[in-house]
Amino acid sequence: MKATAAILETMGLPRPYTESMPLVIGELELAPPGPGEVLVRIAAAGLCHSDLSVIDGNRPRPLPMALGHEAAGVIEEVGVGVSRFAVGDHVVMVFVPSCGSCGFCARGRPALCEPGASANGAGTLLGGGRRLSRAGSDINHHLGVSAFASHAVVSEHSLVKIPTSFDLTKAALFGCAVLTGVGAVVNTASLPPGASAAVVGLGGVGLSALLGAQLAGARQIIAVDLSDEKLAFARELGATHTVNAGDASAEEQIRDLSGGGVEYAFEMAGSVPALELAYRITARGGTTVTSGLPHPERQLSIQAVSLVAEERTLKGSYIGASVPSIDLPRYLALYEQGKLPVDKLLTHTLILDDVNGGFDRLASGEGIRHVIVM
Ligand SMILES: NC(=O)c1ccc[n+]([C@@H]2O[C@H](COP(=O)([O-])OP(=O)(O)OC[C@H]3O[C@@H](n4cnc5c(N)ncnc54)[C@H](O)[C@@H]3O)[C@@H](O)[C@H]2O)c1
Ligand SMILES: [Zn+2]
Ligand SMILES: [Zn+2]
Repeated sequence: MKATAAILETMGLPRPYTESMPLVIGELELAPPGPGEVLVRIAAAGLCHSDLSVIDGNRPRPLPMALGHEAAGVIEEVGVGVSRFAVGDHVVMVFVPSCGSCGFCARGRPALCEPGASANGAGTLLGGGRRLSRAGSDINHHLGVSAFASHAVVSEHSLVKIPTSFDLTKAALFGCAVLTGVGAVVNTASLPPGASAAVVGLGGVGLSALLGAQLAGARQIIAVDLSDEKLAFARELGATHTVNAGDASAEEQIRDLSGGGVEYAFEMAGSVPALELAYRITARGGTTVTSGLPHPERQLSIQAVSLVAEERTLKGSYIGASVPSIDLPRYLALYEQGKLPVDKLLTHTLILDDVNGGFDRLASGEGIRHVIVM
């Protein structure tokens, strides 16, 4: 069948993207789902900084690639052997497919699935193939999803079923921002009630972490960003304090506010200076969690002895160390109970044709989550 999708041909084109047009909307051939795969009609797809990092070259990927990885939709066709999904099911896409049987999957850590990571690196689906092509040449899939499109063929292991009553535009956010941000707090940090926390980087992922820290019962949440608008928004969402990371005294301000450092600091910006700040503002005995994805060549510099003499912990968190089939339905239910108001992060909707403009807005820090409604 034919599908309309946004294809990246060249990384690193200059902004504004409304002029350089890195994403080209075009018609592609979409092959039918193979064994264990399904055809999804995309309903909504969020713009995440991880897509932007492929566009600007900070996260190099094989090109040409059909971008988009935070999405929700409706199943239109199932391939041979698919037993967990049926036509008409509503689904959220998950950006690491989990095979279910590698060592990491077997130990309950599907975010680290090895065949999933290999397929994502190669731009294929979990089964190794590509279902997108143009004039006979294959197009790479982004993280097994490629959701800036009318339709996508994905592995059934890239999906979580959700209730048909749940709004699909809001549901899209759960696939990346919410799983990642909330999971960093509840899974990676296991933040206990009454703890102090700071979140550095207040985009869709960081503000999801902020909401997760509130849900977990943090007594203090210091929101940190370079943008005063993001700080004001974080205060509206319930941050107890805000600090501009650009202030020369930012570290000192956070230390003063927290009585010497926070017990849990979360780096959600994707920048090494943000991670270094998050580490420096963590208290003795505290934990620094990072979800940001800087360029693979960037190195981190921290005071080595502090890890030992202050018994500090530094942890990475990919998709919030989630088990998406368990965590995502829980977060949806908490949203419906009003305990996780992630719809507040959905500040903009747009049409697929405006995807380049949407990335200009994300890059300039305007709004939080921008979701393409198909
Ligand atoms: N670990 C994962 O599984 C995972 C999943 C999704 C996204 N990510 C990554 O998380 C990061 C955030 O994604 P997002 O979509 O929320 O991005 P975003 O662009 O919406 O937000 C990033 C925020 O960080 C702020 N920032 C930048 N530099 C800063 C600094 N030095 N100090 C303080 N704040 C700073 C920006 O002003 C912005 O508000 C990206 O690196 C993205 O690739 C990781
Ligand atoms: Zn993402
Ligand atoms: Zn696996």
